[in-house]
Amino acid sequence: MDKRIPRVWGRARQWWCAVGLAAATAAAAAGEVEVLHWWTSGGEARAVGELKRTLGEQGHGWRDFAVQGGGGDTAMSVLRSRVANGNPPAAAQIKGPAIQEWGRLGVLANLDDVAQQQKWDSQLPKVVADVMKVNGHYVAVPVNVHRVNWLWINRDALRRVSQRAPQTWDEFFSLAEKLQKAGITPVAHGGQPWQEFTTFETVVLGVGGADFYRRAFVQLDAKALQSATMESALTTFRRIKGYTDRNAPGRDWNQATAMVIRGEAAMQFMGDWAKGEFLAAGKAPGRDFLCTSAPGTERAYIFNIDSFAMFQLKGEAAQQAQRALVRSIMSPAFQEVFNLNKGSIPAVSGVDMKRFDLCGQESSAYFVATAMINALVPSIAHKMVQPAAVEDAMKDAVAAFWNDDRTTSADTMSRFVAAAARKK
Ligand code: GAL
Repeated sequence: MDKRIPRVWGRARQWWCAVGLAAATAAAAAGEVEVLHWWTSGGEARAVGELKRTLGEQGHGWRDFAVQGGGGDTAMSVLRSRVANGNPPAAAQIKGPAIQEWGRLGVLANLDDVAQQQKWDSQLPKVVADVMKVNGHYVAVPVNVHRVNWLWINRDALRRVSQRAPQTWDEFFSLAEKLQKAGITPVAHGGQPWQEFTTFETVVLGVGGADFYRRAFVQLDAKALQSATMESALTTFRRIKGYTDRNAPGRDWNQATAMVIRGEAAMQFMGDWAKGEFLAAGKAPGRDFLCTSAPGTERAYIFNIDSFAMFQLKGEAAQQAQRALVRSIMSPAFQEVFNLNKGSIPAVSGVDMKRFDLCGQESSAYFVATAMINALVPSIAHKMVQPAAVEDAMKDAVAAFWNDDRTTSADTMSRFVAAAARKK
């Protein structure tokens, strides 16, 4: 892996790791925090277990509010109704622009006192810190950075057809063809709209590059959303479907990962939460599976940052417990152990990446290096950049295109433009 990273990437990684930071400790009255999240798969549960443990060590209780459903759409609906009923949890997994939306409703807690004690402004990259603030005040804390544009590959499946990991779309499709002839499902797919959107944003990056991705999904430029490049991305996306199996519709993402783990399927397009599944199954990168950038995306990075927003609470003990959760999340020790299980990398600086595997080290180096060359882009499929109204409408258009071969690229691109117009 390291040989493929040019020297600048290695330097970037050193720089990233060199920034020091002090851990903070908490002294608090015992309380309980209710935490809404959607981490229910094997790897996710292991990671969230670390958060419970850390809180427990400080004498606080954890009330689990786990909502099934990868990608978090169901969790967000449940959260909306809980808050509407005047009964918010202490903390909820809320990401990207949604933090601002919730903040504007005046229901989130101000965390500036802890932020000052722990020096968050110097501990977090500015792009990340800005997302955690509403009107300049911290209301949320990041737990990790996921890279979305990975291709996960079963190593034995690759050996069986004597191929190397594909770097280009041509290599990808020729490999897929060989795998299919060898009786191995080339691509494990979970047929749910958020998973289709996850694959699609990766294809758009791989076909169009980071600048095109930004124009389309960040700026919502109609000329990009309806363009020859977008059409080519849609064509590539549909071609991938031909290499998935018939039972894909409705399948959860971790079931698709399990197919790759077992060798029933060879590859999966998915963010690095998939790595948590491989690790939980006792598999090792390099030996049993490969993490490789999806075709055409090696020098770019779609980021997806998980974070917890804190709701305003009544009562001293509850507030203390919430503060303890916040402090723990922002400590380097927690970020290390959590992310070792989750498949992601720490969001705070100062964590030694030595204990991370090759995929984690590569992600960390690429995060910094792609920022330097302006190829670090936010995930639209994972709620990093657009309001829910835009994201949902685009996701529906992508899913409709994937699921019905009669849907044309032209119609789909018109739907993208209509979705963009939902931005207020
Ligand atoms: C993402 C989330 C990841 C992972 C994934 C599958 O939106 O950021 O942490 O949980 O969904 O559930």
